[in-house]
Amino acid sequence: MVDIKEVNKHNSKESCWVVVHGKAYDVTEFLPEHPGGQKIILKYAGKDATKEFDPIHPRDVLDKYLDKSKHLGEVAGLSQVGQEEELDEEDKRVQQAIANRPPLSQMYNLFDFEHIAREVMRKTAWAYYSSGADDEISLRENHRAFHRIWFKPRVLVDVSSVDMSTTMLGTKTSAPFYVTATALGKLGHPDGETCLTRAAAKEDIIQMIPTLASCSFDEIVDAATDKQTQWMQLYVNADREITKRIVQHAEKRGIKALWITVDAPQLGRREKDMRVKYDEAAAEVQEDEGTIDRSQGAARAISSFIDASLSWKDLAWFRTITKMPIVLKGVQCVEDVIKAVEYGMDGVLLSNHGGRQLDFARSSIEVLAETMAELRARGWENKIEIYIDGGIRRATDIMKALCLGAKGVGLGRPFLYAMSSYGEEGVVRAMQLLKDEFEMNMRLIGVTSVDQLSPAHLDLRSISTHNAAPTNLLFDSVYEPMARPEFKRYSKL
Ligand code: LAC
Repeated sequence: MVDIKEVNKHNSKESCWVVVHGKAYDVTEFLPEHPGGQKIILKYAGKDATKEFDPIHPRDVLDKYLDKSKHLGEVAGLSQVGQEEELDEEDKRVQQAIANRPPLSQMYNLFDFEHIAREVMRKTAWAYYSSGADDEISLRENHRAFHRIWFKPRVLVDVSSVDMSTTMLGTKTSAPFYVTATALGKLGHPDGETCLTRAAAKEDIIQMIPTLASCSFDEIVDAATDKQTQWMQLYVNADREITKRIVQHAEKRGIKALWITVDAPQLGRREKDMRVKYDEAAAEVQEDEGTIDRSQGAARAISSFIDASLSWKDLAWFRTITKMPIVLKGVQCVEDVIKAVEYGMDGVLLSNHGGRQLDFARSSIEVLAETMAELRARGWENKIEIYIDGGIRRATDIMKALCLGAKGVGLGRPFLYAMSSYGEEGVVRAMQLLKDEFEMNMRLIGVTSVDQLSPAHLDLRSISTHNAAPTNLLFDSVYEPMARPEFKRYSKL
C-alpha cells in the first residue's frame, strides 16, 4: 500500500509517480521512452492519470512493459483527498450534449450519426477519429468518388425474395460489409472495441480487431460469441519476435484472417489531431527552454513501433508463422495488386487508410475499377479476393464496389460515430440501416443475390474523370484575393 499523500510528492521530472486504476507506478525512468512524449505524463505527475490513460492504452500495457520494480502497489486514501474524477468544462459540455441527443430512432442514415458524434465526443477524441492527412483532399474524395458511378438497373426481375449474405475469406456472413480496424475505441465509448464486437455479433457482421485498440486483444476476443468471426489487423513491429508472438496468439484464439497494414510505414500528419493535442495537453506543461513542441497528436504517439522497413520480401516469412489467410491492407494501385497475386496473397484491401495517410492518394473505388479490369484481362479475377474501404456511407456505395468485383467492403468511422453517439445500440442500428438500404436497392437494381451484381449494372463513364479540381478549404480560407484596379475617388452620378 502506498499513501496518496506520498504519491503527490513525486510530482516532477526528477521523481514522477502516477496512479492508474488505483495503483501507483514510478515512471521517472520511463519518461524519455514514453511513445506519447513526457509532457502528457508530467501533467499527471503525483496524480491519478486513469482518465487520460484509459482510452490510449490497453489495460495490460503496464504489466507488459513497465518493469515490476516500478509497480508500487495499491494506493490508499484516494477518495478521501478529492482525487475522484473531477468534471472539467469539456466533460460538462459533453454530458449536456448527450442528455440532449435526439432518440436513436431519429437516425436514418450514417451521416446522422456523424452529426451527433461531433457534438457528444470530447474534442480531442473527435479530432482523432475525424482527421485526415494534410488538406483532407483524399478524405473527401473517398466518398465523392462514388458519385461518379451510376446504376443501370434491370426491371421485371422476380425480387420477392433477396439474399445479401456472402462469404469472405472462407467465412459466411450476413452482409457484404465488415467493421474495419480503427484505433483507440475508448475515445468514443468506455467499452471501446468490445462495444463493436457485441453489435457485430447481434448482426452477424465480421469485425477486424485493430493492433492499436484501447481494449487488449484478449478482451476483444473474449467479448465475442463462439459463432462470431473476427480478423486481426497487424501493424508489423520492428521486433519480429513480438510480431510472431502476436500473430500466433491470434491464430490460437481462433482469428480467421490476418490483415497486414502496408500503407503506414509512418503515420500521416493529421493536423486536426495535432492541433487539439497541442492545445489541451502540451500547452499546460512548461515548454523546455528553447524547444518547440513537435509532438504530432495521438496517431504519432501510439505508432512509433511500426517497422518502416517492411517490404515484399518479408511476406514469405508470414507464411511460415501462420496458416491464416493473409490480406495486404492498404494497396493503392493495380501494379501492387498484381504483385500481391504473384506473392500468393489471399486478398488485398484497396484503401488509402480513410484519407489519413498520403493526401491525393486516389479513392479505393476508382482503384478497384482499374484493378478488376486488369485482373479480368489476365483471367486472374478469382485468384485473389479484393476488398475496399474508405468513404462508404450508403448501401449504394457497397453495391457499386460489389458490381465492380469487390468481395466485401470495410467501414471504420461510421461505426465509431454510431458507437460514440449511442453505444452498442447505435452500432446495431447503423448496421441495420445499411442492410435495409441494401435489401431495397437489390430489388431496385434487379438482383436476388450479391453474386449477380456485375459491371453490367454500372455506368462507369465518368469514374476517372477528376474534372472538378478538389476544393482546398484551408487554402481558400487563408488566401488573400488579388486586388483589382481601383477607380480614383469620384462621386457617382
Ligand atoms: C490511424 C492509425 C492508427 O489511422 O491506423 O490513426
